[in-house]
Amino acid sequence: MVVELLSVDDHTSSDVKMAATRLVAEVLINRVPSSACTLFPKILLPSSCSAYHHIHLKHNRCVLHQTYQVQSRSVHFSVPSLQNKLETGHDAEIEILGKQYPRDDFTTVTPKILSRVGVSLQNQNHHPICLIKERIRDFFFILAFLNRRGNPLFSIYDHLSPIVTTAQNFDSVLVPQDHITRKKGDNYYINRDMMLRAHTSAHQHDLVQCGLDCFLVAGDVYRRDEIDSSHYPVFHQMEGVRLYTKHELFEKCKGGSHLELFEANSARTDLKQETHTLEAVKLVEHDLKDTLIRCTQHLFGKDIETQWVETTFPFTHPSWELEIKFHGEWLETLGCGIMEQQLLQSAGAGDKIGYAFGLGLDRLAMLLFDIPDIRLFWSTDERFISQFQVKDPTSVKFKPFSSYPPVYQDIAFWLPTDYESNNFYDFVRTMAGDLVENVQLIDDFTHPKTNRKSHCYRITYRSMDKVLTLEEINQIQDRIREQVEGELSVQVR
Ligand code: DAH
Repeated sequence: MVVELLSVDDHTSSDVKMAATRLVAEVLINRVPSSACTLFPKILLPSSCSAYHHIHLKHNRCVLHQTYQVQSRSVHFSVPSLQNKLETGHDAEIEILGKQYPRDDFTTVTPKILSRVGVSLQNQNHHPICLIKERIRDFFFILAFLNRRGNPLFSIYDHLSPIVTTAQNFDSVLVPQDHITRKKGDNYYINRDMMLRAHTSAHQHDLVQCGLDCFLVAGDVYRRDEIDSSHYPVFHQMEGVRLYTKHELFEKCKGGSHLELFEANSARTDLKQETHTLEAVKLVEHDLKDTLIRCTQHLFGKDIETQWVETTFPFTHPSWELEIKFHGEWLETLGCGIMEQQLLQSAGAGDKIGYAFGLGLDRLAMLLFDIPDIRLFWSTDERFISQFQVKDPTSVKFKPFSSYPPVYQDIAFWLPTDYESNNFYDFVRTMAGDLVENVQLIDDFTHPKTNRKSHCYRITYRSMDKVLTLEEINQIQDRIREQVEGELSVQVR
């Protein structure tokens, strides 16, 4: 390869010249960071191919001009972003759905995760996530809540962008500043102000503020998590909110015209918030639980066993989880409660009382259709998709087309002080994609003398549509070994 640095003009600072020279050197020895490959798509030419790379630096713009064989192309990028990329291996900005967002010290989104944004499985016809959304929606539209004129009371919002502000995701639903759910290690932050929503509750406040008092929100949500058959960093939720005026709540009660939603000088107890009357809360609680039990029966049949478990959420009080018994085990399917009055007050609906709930759609679809692994939802394999493209999908039971053998590989390393396991899980997902079925921490060791900590992980590789060769897996595992030290500041043992 021949590389020429063509022109460097007077405005070019010496740092920029250095950066450009380094870039050329990196290109020459084929060591451009892999993350830069998308920016320089043609750079990693086979060394047998003769090419000329010319670099012009002009007024803060850098032009990398390549000529090889008969083709000629130029790649333009600004010098600050080039410098940033050379120093950190990243662009200064992140592009999501055609918009640019600045990166900062809070950024945790990865290219792998961003490739899922905009896919919206909840809106893909015949996809099991869409089917389950439609069944729940139909329950609310048709079976449960027709108003006097026969129109559905509820409306559904399933096209809201998953890119939200941290204020929408946390502050608007009263999540305290120091709450554990805000942790950088658990969320996909775009930067300090923006993130991929971690729950559909992020939209409650805005929709109430728009004047809605009965609505459903379905959407993809994003959380950094462990890797196994029921956890995937993108999953789907359905949120529901119903608000009542005093008249709506009490109209069916005898003597209801004397009852009140609110009372002064009362205390918060396990049963209710300070502002609510006990009779109002008990009626809303009854409606909420009755609705969700009937919805569960609509999905799983009348004989499904259910139980309520008391819990806490920042946005509701009192709060409950609903568990269903499935194959002998209690499984949590949703969270719900009486909405915090402070939330309604700040959204301009302080004169109403309401309930809210959030259901996990992937879990429900896995149970309903017998889907054994959450990764299957992302499969584009015809053998998966076609099983749901039937006229009446209500009774479809998924027939596995693969139980290809797993391949196991272990990796052990010494940890830096600020290490978080979720960083490793994200790194493995980036390197190996959906070939990883499971990552398990199998040894957590502290050296008795030096106090240094070490983790050993077992990675299970298994494809859902083909037999993996050992050679293929060894290549991935080797790349993981080579790059994990630089990415996570660990030391492989
Ligand atoms: N946002 C909660 C979660 O993701 C689920 C939830 C619980 C939603 C209670 C609600 C609710 O609306 O009232 O875990």
